[in-house]
Amino acid sequence: MSDAVTMEKIVSLCKRRGFIFQSSEIYGGLGSCWDYGPMGVELKRNVKNAWWRTMVEERGDVVGLDCSIMMHPTVWKASGHIDSFSDPLVECKECHQRWRADQLEKQACPACDGELTEARNFNLMFKTFMGAVEEDAAVVYLRPETAQGIFVNFQNVVSTSRKRLPLGIAQIGKSFRNEITPGNFTFRTREFEQMEMEFFVQPGSDEEWYEYWSGERFAWYKKLGIRSENLRMREHAKDELAHYAKACVDVEYLFPIGWSELEGIANRTDFDLKQHSSWSGKDLSYFDSATNERFIPYVIEPSAGADRSTLAFLVDAYTEEEVEGASRVVLKLHPALAPVKVAILPLSKNERLMPLARDVHDRVRKCFVTEYDDTQSIGRRYRRQDEIGTPLCVTVDFDSLEDGQVTIRDRDSLAQIRLPIDNLVETLRAKLSGEEFGSDSLWAGARA
Ligand code: GAP
Repeated sequence: MSDAVTMEKIVSLCKRRGFIFQSSEIYGGLGSCWDYGPMGVELKRNVKNAWWRTMVEERGDVVGLDCSIMMHPTVWKASGHIDSFSDPLVECKECHQRWRADQLEKQACPACDGELTEARNFNLMFKTFMGAVEEDAAVVYLRPETAQGIFVNFQNVVSTSRKRLPLGIAQIGKSFRNEITPGNFTFRTREFEQMEMEFFVQPGSDEEWYEYWSGERFAWYKKLGIRSENLRMREHAKDELAHYAKACVDVEYLFPIGWSELEGIANRTDFDLKQHSSWSGKDLSYFDSATNERFIPYVIEPSAGADRSTLAFLVDAYTEEEVEGASRVVLKLHPALAPVKVAILPLSKNERLMPLARDVHDRVRKCFVTEYDDTQSIGRRYRRQDEIGTPLCVTVDFDSLEDGQVTIRDRDSLAQIRLPIDNLVETLRAKLSGEEFGSDSLWAGARA
């Protein structure tokens, strides 16, 4: 990452160009909650679609699921979240700010140097009440991970999908954690989206699959354009492991705040299925008819954050450049992630240009996500498209009326080519899936 990329610059671009806004801004905002604007919603959806495509659609051994956010409260007893999903909380006796004890470098308040209380365990799950009566029996939790919905549906999926092990079940959805110290924009929030996959395997083959998924997940970020020098893998030490894990490795990204977790790949062993089997009284074992063996599968779990990876893609793409004596900000996003793929820009608002420009737009929008913009000078419109990461701009000018040709401008190289309108869609498709953007199946054929 360039030294010049700060979180402030990313926050400012996100607000200026409609990627991410502070939640409830007109009321002063709500801490650590963020809303995705018109560009942000497309970008994040493209990240989720790219994950789903790689993890489910391009494979024969992973199927999808979409579970409810609220689940039977015993799920969280069985999973261990009620007893141990907590962080050590301390409070300043002077200014009453709260901190995570395990993240403090000294035993005094970082804000005012005041004395801190003894640490107590603070459970991170949000509680609410189901139904009209607010009583203990009606307490339910907002899920802190999507994974548990997958474990409790394991038998449903196996018996209906006609799949054999090894088998993955993937899910994308909201999770909630009452983090003590959220912050750094969308990096750590109390409401966020996860992209999780639980891969069920025969015990004994788990270590091999753990290696496999660690490699696959690292490669996914690189395939979508994250620079190698900003990515690394970090294996967890034994004393860092979650209560359910035999091994865990993080894919880390060099954010402006330093190297931080993007995604974790964990070997969860048979912990979760055994726990749910014992608390529910239901048999969650698997019978392998090929070997005549019955066993509780082991689970390898790649668990990524949709918001956190969207932030990483934004940071990695953010570039400040000098071009012909002028400076520009450009988001060099992979075309599969770019919110808008092609912008149609008539040179001016002149009414002679309108019918042809509209006709060109109609042809292109059938195949790609487009934006039509005829306001302001062409320079300002290019600047806006650069800042939202649009890979290609098509300009329609007065010569187009005579020769039936338009100009394509490439976001990264700034190269321009002029070509007949009849060849436009095919050329755009070739350029968007071509070598200059790293050709791969994520983009090929995608209308996105
Ligand atoms: N099921 C395993 C699990 O939930 P985790 O490491 O706690 O593991 C997985 O979370 C991913 O979810 C993280 O790598 C991160 O990308 C994302 N994530 C976790 N807490 C988050 C938060 N408070 N805000 C944003 N993303 C978060």
